[in-house]
Amino acid sequence: MLTVAVLISGTGSNLRALLDAAADPGYPAHVVVVGADREAEGFSHAEEYGIPSFMVPWAQFASREEWGAELGAQLDVWKPDLVVLSGLMRLLPASLVDRWAPRIINTHPAYLPEFPGAHGVRDALAAGVDQTGASVIIVDNGVDSGPILAQERVPVLPGDDEHALHDRIKPVERRLLIDVVRRIATGDLDLAVAASASSAS
Ligand code: GRF
Repeated sequence: MLTVAVLISGTGSNLRALLDAAADPGYPAHVVVVGADREAEGFSHAEEYGIPSFMVPWAQFASREEWGAELGAQLDVWKPDLVVLSGLMRLLPASLVDRWAPRIINTHPAYLPEFPGAHGVRDALAAGVDQTGASVIIVDNGVDSGPILAQERVPVLPGDDEHALHDRIKPVERRLLIDVVRRIATGDLDLAVAASASSAS
């Protein structure tokens, strides 16, 4: 059974989907802890499932490095096989990424490398494209620049605003995340191989 830590900042709908999937005894991964950089709404999902959580409040640390050191210390307590960033709205310090890579993945509401960063949905709309998407990647030290593990296109429809488009992307993100975590757990997807294949290309 693959053990997973999920880090969030917000509502945690991706977290919820993963918890629901993992409730099926046939699903090969299990969320052992949920962490956040703030008092996140998504903690309620962990609570409902009786899963421990921790908070490392960004505002209480003098630097990204110090915040990341505490986050890393928390993760070391739980020693998950995989760390999933799911709506964590902070960049991790390189020391933490390097400690966990390639066993740290992120979901993103755009078809990377298109529209990286915190406003992937808004940026796609502003660019006037007729399709965007969702991606799951290995985290590296860039902004949404790591090796792509899965992605799928989502059409932009006439009249879409950021909210409507994001609401159509999120179910795709969830499905991709659940599938990627399953493939990592079964060995179907080898993160070390995916990371080195991408650095070779
Ligand atoms: C997701 O679209 C994630 O990719 C983005 O923020 C959203 C988080 O949603 N960075 P939720 O907290 O899982 O509901």
